[in-house]
Amino acid sequence: MSTLQLRQEKMVNGHGSGLQTCTERQRTQEGVVGLIRASLEAKEFAYCPYSKFRVGAALLAHDGKVFTGCNVENACYNLGICAERNAISKAVSEGYRDFKSIAIASDLSDQFISPCGGCRQFMREFGASWDVYLSKPDGTYVEMTVDELLPGSFGPEDLNMKKVHNIPNEF
Ligand code: THU
Repeated sequence: MSTLQLRQEKMVNGHGSGLQTCTERQRTQEGVVGLIRASLEAKEFAYCPYSKFRVGAALLAHDGKVFTGCNVENACYNLGICAERNAISKAVSEGYRDFKSIAIASDLSDQFISPCGGCRQFMREFGASWDVYLSKPDGTYVEMTVDELLPGSFGPEDLNMKKVHNIPNEF
């Protein structure tokens, strides 16, 4: 077992009580809880004077780095940006394109926050098989994949599929 694995297990089991074994499932659940907590914290920064609907997102990259985002609205209403797109854009602008999961938080008490169609497509750009955690303020969540949220989607690969017409380059 590597040093890193041991350290992760200690962290998960916590409280310096020595090294214990822990299942992959437990580790994953700890990770999800942490990601949801980060999305709830990001929600606190929401700038939403028009809708008064706060949303936060926390995006987990392949190497463990977390990027957060909140919705940012504008007096020119259509310029507002969603929390999920903000988090993804932050990550991409720092060189990250490979994502494991994203957690989304809102203030809806009786419903899990559901990402808008635009954000589903934005997620899809970076793969269809990664995880999305739709949460409630009490930390409960529903797990779905991007593909489940946007079945039969159009993605970057489709641009290279066989066409009846090939438009020649003009220049
Ligand atoms: N919003 C998000 O940030 N993410 C979603 O998934 C749904 C909607 C924001 C956009 C707008 O600022 C506010 O919530 C109301 O639609």
